[in-house]
Amino acid sequence: MEKETLLLLQNAALKQIEEADNSEALNNVRNTFLSKKSELSSLMSQLGTLSSEQRKEYGQVINGVRVTITNAIEQKMALLKAKELEAKLARETIDITLPGKEGSVGARNPFYVIEEEMIEIFLGMGFEIADGPEVESDHYNFELMNIPKDHPSRDMQDTFYIDDNNLLRTHTSPVQARVMQAKKEGPIRVICPGKTYRRDDDDATHSHQFAQIEGLVVDKDINIGHLKATLELFVKKMFGEKREIRLRSSYFPFTEPSVEVDITCANCGGKGCSMCKGTGYIEILGAGMVHPNVLKMSGYDPEVYSGFAFGVGIERVAILRYGIDDIRKFYQNDVRFIRQFKKAS
Ligand code: DAH
Repeated sequence: MEKETLLLLQNAALKQIEEADNSEALNNVRNTFLSKKSELSSLMSQLGTLSSEQRKEYGQVINGVRVTITNAIEQKMALLKAKELEAKLARETIDITLPGKEGSVGARNPFYVIEEEMIEIFLGMGFEIADGPEVESDHYNFELMNIPKDHPSRDMQDTFYIDDNNLLRTHTSPVQARVMQAKKEGPIRVICPGKTYRRDDDDATHSHQFAQIEGLVVDKDINIGHLKATLELFVKKMFGEKREIRLRSSYFPFTEPSVEVDITCANCGGKGCSMCKGTGYIEILGAGMVHPNVLKMSGYDPEVYSGFAFGVGIERVAILRYGIDDIRKFYQNDVRFIRQFKKAS
């Protein structure tokens, strides 16, 4: 064993450490000079064959060489790691001033925008939401609404029959009966939003499927003033403070008296134009005082209770609010139509 060899080994190692310009290369140098298979390790294992004096002497030298190489590697490694981190950070710099990628967000169908707005207005007045089935019985859809089998008004509401006794409801009015029967007594103040169906030939103003919001208020001493005030507030919130309403005498089998409610035309403000056909008004909904028969049939005594009801088409309100020219557009899912209401949603 020559000290010379050991110094040569040390110098060779220091040179390679110096030359290593990345951490991987430096790890290789470490393997070459310090691993179990390295020359230094094999020299170390030969120490046992030497006399104790020589062992001490060479042991110190070998150890010195090992420490020198180890330290040199550690120092160089720290340097290389710092450089590599710096390079990595520089490579991964994010320019936070760049505009982000905009995801594409859809628009809500104006039907739902308006439905929600209408519901909010009535909830604000203290109405609760009631629900009823879309597949309804003849009994609820017609009979309990004071429309017996031979009643001529059934013709206007010709619909889709499931069988002789069941049909797709033609209006949300049957929920009135369901709510009264469930409640049995005491005041009622509900709205029922939902789908309705009629066997119609679809065109710009007719759709075989549409939606209504039914309203029902039953209590002691309810009069037509309550009806008018409620609908006036609804119209003003929905269409603006300037809108006036007009009650026009009409006929529904389930109300007495019955009215058709008109609002002043948005286009001309009531003067008369082509949109309102010169009348200054546009019809928006049907309403009336709940017919005594309807109260009685669902368990409310008309001598004690009175009430008012109304039924308003959701598409109709949306059409008037946005000036939509064809009811079918609500159902065609043409994104060019729907996108126009992006802000509204
Ligand atoms: N059910 C009627 C329809 O479908 C609308 C209606 C009119 C509902 C008057 C009412 C009402 O509650 O009082 O055309």
